[in-house]
Amino acid sequence: MSVVLAKGAEATLFLEQWYGMRVVRKHRIQKRYRVESLDKRLRRERTIREARTITAAKRAGVPTPIIFSVNVEAATIIMEHIKAHRLKERISVLSSNKRQRIFNQIGKSVALLHQTHICHGDLTTSNLLLHASGKIYFIDFGLATTTQSVEDLGTDIHLLRRALYSTHHIFWEGCFNAFKTGYQNKYGIGASRILRKVEAIESRGRYITERIR
Ligand SMILES: Nc1ncnc2c1ncn2[C@@H]1O[C@H](COP(=O)(O)OP(=O)(O)O)[C@@H](O)[C@H]1O
Ligand SMILES: [Mg+2]
Repeated sequence: MSVVLAKGAEATLFLEQWYGMRVVRKHRIQKRYRVESLDKRLRRERTIREARTITAAKRAGVPTPIIFSVNVEAATIIMEHIKAHRLKERISVLSSNKRQRIFNQIGKSVALLHQTHICHGDLTTSNLLLHASGKIYFIDFGLATTTQSVEDLGTDIHLLRRALYSTHHIFWEGCFNAFKTGYQNKYGIGASRILRKVEAIESRGRYITERIR
């Protein structure tokens, strides 16, 4: 049994049976528009980075799928199938209380990532899975980096804010405030420096938009 679960820009994901378990196989597909050697290198690098970071994130206390097997040459990762919905699809049907609790939890998890120097690189509600237990699983670490730079970590949060603003416009502010509370509580001292950077990045963007207008 193998069914296509999702088809993204970089990868195709299959739902499969593997030693009697239901797993997800993420296969980074060849991109014809890229020079072959470069394409191969990118797919290998992102596969390794993703598998490593998913495991490091789990060690830091952030819910992520278990990695069962990695095939660098084939650019595939076999991981635990999380029976969950993408947060993107659930956000508008949740009660406002539940939404707040979830974004508080996301803030805590991102603080754990950042304290471990992991910058996710693509924090959107398509890369967050909401399990029936209420737990939020983090996926899609192919663009993750290891960094302590306040600018990088601020950008990570800025991307989430932008995703909320554009995709979930009615709720974005409540969600983002709950996120910041969770982030600050978990990160503790030092969080305000990163959150101030988020504001600075935001106003830089506004300034540019106004200049273009
Ligand atoms: N371990 C998993 N368990 C359940 N669903 C998953 C899992 N990994 C990915 N998915 C689903 O596949 C989609 C695409 O996976 P993702 O890793 O984000 O790839 P892409 O790089 O193409 O965005 C996700 O939005 C999610 O719906
Ligand atoms: Mg994704």
